Amino acid sequence: MANKLTTNQGTPVPDDQNSLTAGARGPSLLIDDHLLEKLAHFDRERIPERVVNARGAAAFGTFRPEPGLHQFTKAVVFSRDKETPVAARFSTFTHSRHSPETVRDPRGFAVKFYTTEGNYDLVGSSLPVFFIRDAMRFPDLVHALKPDPVTGLQDPHRIFDFLSFAPECTHMLIWLYSDRGIPADYRHMEGYGVHTFIWTNVKGDQRYVRYRWKPAAGVQYLSAEDAEAVQAKDFNHATRDLSASLARGGTVEFDLYVQLMQPKDEASLAWDPLDVTKLWPEEAYPLLRVGHLTLNRGPVNDFAENEQLAFAPSAIVPGIDLSADKLLHGRSFAYPDTQRHRLGANYEPSTGGDTLPTGLPLAHPVGVDGHVTRERIPKSDDFMQAGITWRRFDESLRLSVIKNLGDELSRVSNQEVVDTIVGFLSRADALLGEGVRRRARGDLPDPAILMQPAAPTQSPASSA
Ligand code: HEM
Repeated sequence: MANKLTTNQGTPVPDDQNSLTAGARGPSLLIDDHLLEKLAHFDRERIPERVVNARGAAAFGTFRPEPGLHQFTKAVVFSRDKETPVAARFSTFTHSRHSPETVRDPRGFAVKFYTTEGNYDLVGSSLPVFFIRDAMRFPDLVHALKPDPVTGLQDPHRIFDFLSFAPECTHMLIWLYSDRGIPADYRHMEGYGVHTFIWTNVKGDQRYVRYRWKPAAGVQYLSAEDAEAVQAKDFNHATRDLSASLARGGTVEFDLYVQLMQPKDEASLAWDPLDVTKLWPEEAYPLLRVGHLTLNRGPVNDFAENEQLAFAPSAIVPGIDLSADKLLHGRSFAYPDTQRHRLGANYEPSTGGDTLPTGLPLAHPVGVDGHVTRERIPKSDDFMQAGITWRRFDESLRLSVIKNLGDELSRVSNQEVVDTIVGFLSRADALLGEGVRRRARGDLPDPAILMQPAAPTQSPASSA
């Protein structure tokens, strides 16, 4: 049975070929969210690099939780004794796709859990805190960190000029400018969820939670001098290390820990546990081991499995929620928004596809003049004008259509597709269809033969 064609949100598509219109001839309706999403995707379907965290490396594997976590969360990824497939991506934060991996920069530590309840993305960092706490400042932070648009050079003046207005960055600067600011590679760094999330169990009990990944290989980092030495030899060392470790048949492993807090405790704290510029002291909120991540393969194709990976802090599952954290709320908008721009779409119909719209009736409210419907316009003849135009062309243009279309179709391996297109052309003009069919088969080295002894004489009814 064919799979159902769904929107990006996973809801069934009733009709993928006809726009929603007021009456069969239109006009189109703005509430046609499927049309808008399809066109919006199309408008943006060339893939630019990520606006931040562009330089990264991916790996794949599984996550297995510790037993007993159902008392804290009903999320199946943690509460059931079973493995969940994962995709992980490690990255630098500031610079572009092929930039050095030896920079002093927070590293991205993103893990996508493909759970049975949908994807859960934990999109974290190698450092436990962040520069700012309000999403409103993030674009300015990034602009300050990126190269100066005038000189093309990263400029400490711009960075620190901005940060001088952001005293909340102080904690982050301590971490970043320690040797922890340059992890040795991706196998030897910790990962932090940074934000506070909420876990809910089946009874509805809630706890604040913070996450921490610890590398099985131990934590290692580079001094500024070590980093210079590594970079002099190989500025891709972290990606190379990760892929070489996996290519040798090895695994890269991390333990996941959490810190838990009763929400009622926050009133008694002198600091805000939802603030990303703050840590939760381990003495008061000890680390609880909750699972183990085993990465066992690298990307088969870097473009498909690294460039096109898309994480979003808004991708959460039942049992896990976002806390009231303004940075996190800004992030939950920004990632799906940039991905609409960054990632392409897949279209149907296709002879190779097995996804179908549901054909379900419309659920839109009706309140327009005419019937709200998805159907072709009544006078939909797709071929008559095409034939007229072709016949109106002079002989050299007519021949060029046969040659160019025939040659293009000769590169289409699916004969059903070729036959369908040729069928359309034949309905426009039998000679045109015949010419393209033969050219595509390699039977018509010189299309001019077709025109002998005389070209068709029908004249156009109107200018096409
Ligand atoms: C308001 C604050 C933030 C905004 C608006 C923001 C925005 C973005 C955007 C637009 C991307 C590119 C996503 C893509 O193209 O798929 C990105 C990537 C990323 N961000 Fe943020 N970010 C913010 C804060 C943070 C923080 C605090 C962390 C760490 C805790 C973080 C970790 C990451 C990671 C790991 C990636 C790369 C994901 C991947 O590997 O594809 N970001 N961010």
